[in-house]
Amino acid sequence: MTSLINPFPVVGDELIIGGQPISQLAGTIGQTPFYLYDRAMITRRVSELRTQLPDQIALYYAIKANPFPPLVELLAVQTDGFDVASGGELALALATGIPPARISFAGPAKTDAELQAAVQAGVVIHVESAHELTRLYQFGAASGMQPQIALRINPAFSLKAAGMHMGGGPQPFGIDEEQIPAVIAQMTDYDLSLRGLHIYAGSQNLHAEAIIAAQSASFALAQRLMAHTTTQLHFLNIGGGFGIPYFAGQQPLDIAPIAAALYEHQIACRAQLGAVRIILELGRYLVGEAGVYVCRVIDRKISRGRTYLLTNGGLHHHLAASGNLGQVIRKNYPVVNACRVADGERECVHVVGPLCTPLDVIAEDVTLGSAAIGDWIAVLQSGAYGASASPQRFLSHLPAQERLV
Ligand SMILES: Cc1ncc(COP(=O)(O)O)c(C=O)c1O
Repeated sequence: MTSLINPFPVVGDELIIGGQPISQLAGTIGQTPFYLYDRAMITRRVSELRTQLPDQIALYYAIKANPFPPLVELLAVQTDGFDVASGGELALALATGIPPARISFAGPAKTDAELQAAVQAGVVIHVESAHELTRLYQFGAASGMQPQIALRINPAFSLKAAGMHMGGGPQPFGIDEEQIPAVIAQMTDYDLSLRGLHIYAGSQNLHAEAIIAAQSASFALAQRLMAHTTTQLHFLNIGGGFGIPYFAGQQPLDIAPIAAALYEHQIACRAQLGAVRIILELGRYLVGEAGVYVCRVIDRKISRGRTYLLTNGGLHHHLAASGNLGQVIRKNYPVVNACRVADGERECVHVVGPLCTPLDVIAEDVTLGSAAIGDWIAVLQSGAYGASASPQRFLSHLPAQERLV
């Protein structure tokens, strides 16, 4: 079965991840809950995207989406670089052996230790404030090492219809576009060279036209800003924002019109900015659909007419599916009974976790294959912002296992 709600094969009514049935994987891992990431699906996603995009577009993976080391190692081979957002992610990226020049470090409030590690490693630092630039200049002068610098810009525009906005209006992210000419002048005073610009307007967008509009505005902004300088930019990172469908009624993002617009933009960009590398920076789009979170039915009960499946998984492992990672209105992630996916008797249930809080919800009013105690419940679309974006120590339950299969 292949559908939006379930991209994985089903054999004998059981979910197959990485070529193996859930029951077999559960036996091998020996403990629930766990996250599974399907290696072949990630590989396919990257290669399908590359087939559609212009060859010259570089594809960076934003490690924050899923920092599981084997998955990061897989993407070190398949993508052109990494976006890191902390000293920890920087260490993860460097451990894959990827050349430092293909790592970019963005994020507000970088500590001295993080900046020093980044300068020492020779990765590109996306400067997020004038003060951060001064600190980098000081580290560079003290150590004799030249920091590799790009400026992250907070544009005046935002990414329309995005799940999350990181650009437009007042922001903790990046330097307001109005201040960029002064910061470039400051770089000249410090004798620092500008390698690139970074414009990240937002995340989780399923509307191609909104992404195209933000990309057009990003190219135009870069051209306006560079008109003031004689600097040859090495790269222009136009962010990403490619979303994946999580909820009923959402449609997958249509890449074709975005790719067509990028063909046009890169030609115009080359004409105006010279041999500049265009970078797309994606997280969830590369890994989100390839992941499932699997927990086990420990108990079931009926309370005043409502059937509850009580599982050993919940918000401590999967905050996003519980609806507590920034959602305004809680909606169910796609959920299946992993050993009774499509056949047999169905029932309408509330699936909850073991925590003593009404926030610990996996799915409400969801129709699943009628569950026996011991069945596995799988939350789909869980390959991004899952284990690492959840309060795993809350109530001192065991952390979720993770496997790339
Ligand atoms: C600077 C930056 N890059 C990349 C990402 C990855 O976003 P996504 O996983 O939605 O692609 C984010 C998300 O917050 C971000 O802030």
